[in-house]
Amino acid sequence: KRIAVCCSGGGSNLKALVSYSQIKPLPVTFTLFISDKHGTGAEVFANKCGIRCKILQQRTYTSEACYERAFLDLLRAEHIDIVLLAGYLKRVPSEVVKAYKGRMLNIHPSLLPKFGGAGMYGIHVHEAVAKAKEKITGATVHFVDEEFDTGKILLQAQIHLNGTESPEEIARKVLDLEHKLYPAALEQLISSMH
Ligand code: GRF
Repeated sequence: KRIAVCCSGGGSNLKALVSYSQIKPLPVTFTLFISDKHGTGAEVFANKCGIRCKILQQRTYTSEACYERAFLDLLRAEHIDIVLLAGYLKRVPSEVVKAYKGRMLNIHPSLLPKFGGAGMYGIHVHEAVAKAKEKITGATVHFVDEEFDTGKILLQAQIHLNGTESPEEIARKVLDLEHKLYPAALEQLISSMH
Protein backbone atom coordinates (compact mmCIF):
# COMPACT_ATOMS: atom_id res chain seq x y z
CA LYS A 1 0.00 0.00 0.00
CA ARG A 2 1.17 3.49 -0.85
CA ILE A 3 0.81 5.90 2.04
CA ALA A 4 0.64 9.68 2.30
CA VAL A 5 1.21 11.28 5.71
CA CYS A 6 0.02 14.83 6.46
CA CYS A 7 1.72 16.70 9.32
CA SER A 8 2.01 20.26 10.63
CA GLY A 9 4.45 19.75 13.49
CA GLY A 10 7.27 17.77 14.99
CA GLY A 11 6.40 14.52 13.28
CA SER A 12 7.03 12.12 16.16
CA ASN A 13 4.07 10.03 14.99
CA LEU A 14 5.46 9.95 11.45
CA LYS A 15 8.77 8.70 12.89
CA ALA A 16 6.98 6.03 14.92
CA LEU A 17 5.05 4.84 11.87
CA VAL A 18 8.13 4.66 9.65
CA SER A 19 10.21 2.86 12.32
CA TYR A 20 7.47 0.35 13.00
CA SER A 21 7.01 -0.41 9.31
CA GLN A 22 10.74 -1.13 9.04
CA ILE A 23 10.90 -3.41 12.07
CA LYS A 24 7.70 -5.32 11.42
CA PRO A 25 7.93 -5.05 8.24
CA LEU A 26 4.56 -3.89 6.90
CA PRO A 27 3.57 -4.05 3.22
CA VAL A 28 3.60 -0.26 2.95
CA THR A 29 5.62 2.45 1.28
CA PHE A 30 5.64 5.92 2.73
CA THR A 31 5.35 7.61 -0.63
CA LEU A 32 4.26 11.17 0.03
CA PHE A 33 4.54 13.76 2.79
CA ILE A 34 2.15 16.72 2.84
CA SER A 35 2.33 19.75 5.11
CA ASP A 36 0.73 23.17 5.30
CA LYS A 37 4.00 24.62 6.67
CA HIS A 38 7.60 24.82 5.51
CA GLY A 39 10.48 23.63 7.67
CA THR A 40 8.71 21.51 10.28
CA GLY A 41 10.48 18.70 12.11
CA ALA A 42 8.19 16.32 10.26
CA GLU A 43 9.36 17.66 6.89
CA VAL A 44 13.03 17.39 7.86
CA PHE A 45 12.49 13.77 8.84
CA ALA A 46 10.47 12.94 5.70
CA ASN A 47 13.22 14.41 3.53
CA LYS A 48 15.84 12.38 5.36
CA CYS A 49 13.83 9.22 4.62
CA GLY A 50 13.59 10.11 0.94
CA ILE A 51 9.82 10.60 1.09
CA ARG A 52 8.56 13.03 -1.54
CA CYS A 53 7.58 16.26 0.28
CA LYS A 54 4.92 18.68 -0.83
CA ILE A 55 3.73 21.85 0.90
CA LEU A 56 0.06 22.62 0.22
CA GLN A 57 -1.25 26.00 1.35
CA GLN A 58 -4.76 27.04 0.53
CA ARG A 59 -3.84 30.74 0.32
CA THR A 60 -1.56 30.09 -2.64
CA TYR A 61 -4.56 28.93 -4.72
CA THR A 62 -7.05 31.25 -6.38
CA SER A 63 -10.06 29.39 -4.99
CA GLU A 64 -10.99 26.65 -2.56
CA ALA A 65 -11.98 24.49 -5.52
CA CYS A 66 -8.48 24.83 -7.04
CA TYR A 67 -6.88 23.93 -3.72
CA GLU A 68 -9.17 20.91 -3.36
CA ARG A 69 -8.35 19.78 -6.90
CA ALA A 70 -4.60 20.18 -6.35
CA PHE A 71 -4.80 18.13 -3.13
CA LEU A 72 -6.69 15.32 -4.83
CA ASP A 73 -4.57 15.39 -7.99
CA LEU A 74 -1.44 15.08 -5.90
CA LEU A 75 -2.70 12.00 -4.07
CA ARG A 76 -3.91 10.42 -7.31
CA ALA A 77 -0.71 11.18 -9.20
CA GLU A 78 1.22 9.28 -6.52
CA HIS A 79 -1.36 6.42 -6.52
CA ILE A 80 -1.91 6.86 -2.80
CA ASP A 81 -4.01 4.12 -1.16
CA ILE A 82 -4.08 5.38 2.43
CA VAL A 83 -3.84 8.89 3.92
CA LEU A 84 -2.70 9.32 7.54
CA LEU A 85 -3.14 12.61 9.36
CA ALA A 86 -0.54 12.91 12.09
CA GLY A 87 -0.68 16.26 13.83
CA TYR A 88 -2.12 17.90 10.72
CA LEU A 89 -3.90 21.07 11.79
CA LYS A 90 -5.74 21.98 8.62
CA ARG A 91 -9.09 20.68 7.52
CA VAL A 92 -8.77 18.27 4.60
CA PRO A 93 -10.93 19.43 1.63
CA SER A 94 -14.22 17.53 1.46
CA GLU A 95 -13.67 16.01 -2.00
CA VAL A 96 -10.46 14.48 -0.68
CA VAL A 97 -12.24 13.15 2.40
CA LYS A 98 -14.92 11.63 0.16
CA ALA A 99 -12.40 10.06 -2.22
CA TYR A 100 -10.52 8.45 0.67
CA LYS A 101 -13.51 7.41 2.78
CA GLY A 102 -12.50 4.41 4.87
CA ARG A 103 -8.85 4.93 3.87
CA MET A 104 -8.02 8.12 5.76
CA LEU A 105 -7.11 8.07 9.45
CA ASN A 106 -6.39 10.69 12.09
CA ILE A 107 -4.88 10.40 15.55
CA HIS A 108 -6.26 12.49 18.39
CA PRO A 109 -4.71 12.75 21.86
CA SER A 110 -7.82 12.01 23.94
CA LEU A 111 -10.44 9.33 24.38
CA LEU A 112 -12.91 10.59 21.79
CA PRO A 113 -15.70 11.64 21.87
CA LYS A 114 -14.32 13.32 24.99
CA PHE A 115 -12.12 16.38 24.44
CA GLY A 116 -12.50 16.53 20.67
CA GLY A 117 -13.76 19.12 18.20
CA ALA A 118 -12.68 22.54 17.01
CA GLY A 119 -10.04 24.15 19.24
CA MET A 120 -9.22 20.80 20.83
CA TYR A 121 -5.72 20.17 19.55
CA GLY A 122 -2.24 19.92 21.01
CA ILE A 123 -1.78 21.10 24.58
CA HIS A 124 -5.36 22.47 24.75
CA VAL A 125 -6.65 18.91 24.92
CA HIS A 126 -4.42 18.05 27.88
CA GLU A 127 -5.20 21.32 29.65
CA ALA A 128 -8.89 20.44 29.48
CA VAL A 129 -8.19 16.90 30.71
CA ALA A 130 -6.11 18.23 33.65
CA LYS A 131 -8.75 20.83 34.53
CA ALA A 132 -11.50 18.21 34.53
CA LYS A 133 -9.30 16.05 36.83
CA GLU A 134 -9.91 13.04 34.60
CA LYS A 135 -8.76 9.71 36.01
CA ILE A 136 -8.15 8.25 32.58
CA THR A 137 -7.18 9.70 29.24
CA GLY A 138 -5.63 8.28 26.11
CA ALA A 139 -5.49 8.45 22.36
CA THR A 140 -7.86 7.62 19.52
CA VAL A 141 -7.30 6.67 15.90
CA HIS A 142 -10.42 7.31 13.85
CA PHE A 143 -11.53 7.46 10.24
CA VAL A 144 -11.73 11.00 8.91
CA ASP A 145 -15.08 12.48 7.98
CA GLU A 146 -15.99 16.06 7.20
CA GLU A 147 -16.09 17.28 10.81
CA PHE A 148 -13.27 17.50 13.33
CA ASP A 149 -12.75 14.32 15.39
CA THR A 150 -16.15 12.75 14.73
CA GLY A 151 -15.38 9.85 12.36
CA LYS A 152 -15.78 6.18 13.24
CA ILE A 153 -13.28 5.05 15.86
CA LEU A 154 -10.79 2.40 14.75
CA LEU A 155 -8.66 1.99 17.88
CA GLN A 156 -8.21 3.56 21.33
CA ALA A 157 -5.76 3.09 24.16
CA GLN A 158 -5.85 4.57 27.62
CA ILE A 159 -3.62 5.56 30.51
CA HIS A 160 -4.46 6.20 34.13
CA LEU A 161 -3.93 9.57 35.76
CA ASN A 162 -3.75 10.47 39.43
CA GLY A 163 -5.33 13.85 38.85
CA THR A 164 -2.18 15.84 39.73
CA GLU A 165 -0.26 15.65 36.45
CA SER A 166 0.38 18.87 34.56
CA PRO A 167 -0.92 19.22 30.99
CA GLU A 168 2.68 18.84 29.78
CA GLU A 169 3.15 15.58 31.69
CA ILE A 170 -0.14 14.24 30.33
CA ALA A 171 0.92 15.28 26.81
CA ARG A 172 4.19 13.32 27.11
CA LYS A 173 2.47 10.18 28.36
CA VAL A 174 -0.23 10.32 25.71
CA LEU A 175 2.30 10.94 22.94
CA ASP A 176 4.22 7.78 23.98
CA LEU A 177 0.95 5.90 23.75
CA GLU A 178 0.20 7.38 20.31
CA HIS A 179 3.51 6.06 19.00
CA LYS A 180 2.30 2.51 19.66
CA LEU A 181 -1.35 3.07 18.80
CA TYR A 182 -0.95 4.59 15.33
CA PRO A 183 1.20 1.77 13.89
CA ALA A 184 -1.23 -0.78 15.37
CA ALA A 185 -4.17 1.03 13.78
CA LEU A 186 -2.40 1.19 10.42
CA GLU A 187 -1.69 -2.53 10.61
CA GLN A 188 -5.34 -3.21 11.39
CA LEU A 189 -6.51 -1.05 8.49
CA ILE A 190 -4.15 -2.79 6.06
CA SER A 191 -5.25 -6.27 7.07
CA SER A 192 -8.90 -5.26 6.69
CA MET A 193 -8.19 -4.05 3.15
CA HIS A 194 -6.85 -7.33 1.81
C1 GRF B 1 -0.20 14.41 18.49
O1 GRF B 1 -0.49 14.54 19.86
C2 GRF B 1 -1.47 14.10 17.73
O2 GRF B 1 -2.37 13.32 18.43
C3 GRF B 1 -2.03 15.47 17.53
O3 GRF B 1 -0.91 16.29 17.28
C4 GRF B 1 0.26 15.73 17.89
C5 GRF B 1 1.28 15.55 16.80
O4 GRF B 1 2.54 15.25 17.29
N1 GRF B 1 -3.05 15.47 16.51
P1 GRF B 1 3.72 14.85 16.28
O5 GRF B 1 3.84 15.95 15.23
O6 GRF B 1 3.37 13.53 15.67
O7 GRF B 1 4.93 14.78 17.14
